[in-house]
Amino acid sequence: MKKAVLIGGIVTTLACLVWVQRAASLPQAAPSNPAPSNPAPTNPAPTNPAPSQTPPASAAASFKPVSELEHLMEGQELHFKAIDELLKDTAVKDRLKKLAMHADVLAELANVNTFNKDKTDYKTWAGQVRDLSLKLAAEADKKAGASEEELKSLRKQISDTCAACHDAYD
Ligand code: HEC
Repeated sequence: MKKAVLIGGIVTTLACLVWVQRAASLPQAAPSNPAPSNPAPTNPAPTNPAPSQTPPASAAASFKPVSELEHLMEGQELHFKAIDELLKDTAVKDRLKKLAMHADVLAELANVNTFNKDKTDYKTWAGQVRDLSLKLAAEADKKAGASEEELKSLRKQISDTCAACHDAYD
């Protein structure tokens, strides 16, 4: 009986050792694969300094909105309307939290919109909707300290900016 237990223990230990060795050898095998590709990265190395200088400009230049402008506008409309309704109804649960969320997403959609045309006035109006929406989100984030007047004033400024761009481009 004791022998059986002892042998069982040894077998289990051996099995564990084999497993551990295998497990240990797995990551070893993996790194040895990328090893051959190492020489390659050292080749482009000389060109590395160049890309590392340009990322900010090239990253912005290569960003392209993926949704149709009409759809992005419908998205802005949804969030703007949600803001509108939350401003009117002060009884909504988590009202300021929801206001901040809708304003934040509206800001991001406007941020993407700055890439939809190359015209300076277009980019400026889109950027203004973004910045005003971020301000609205920040005001709502003040919770009990948030000013209803300021929230409403920002809503109006956003709406005027939507209209300014639509007058020129829609
Ligand atoms: C920088 C310019 C610009 C700003 C700012 C702007 N829009 Fe637009 N909007 C457009 C253009 C251009 C169109 C026409 C898009 C089309 O039909 O292809 C449009 C169209 C729309 C449409 C109609 C979409 C449809 O189904 O045809 C809605 C709704 C809309 N915008 C909502 C808004 C709201 C809400 C805001 C502000 C929060 C806003 N837009 C701000 C440029 C802008």
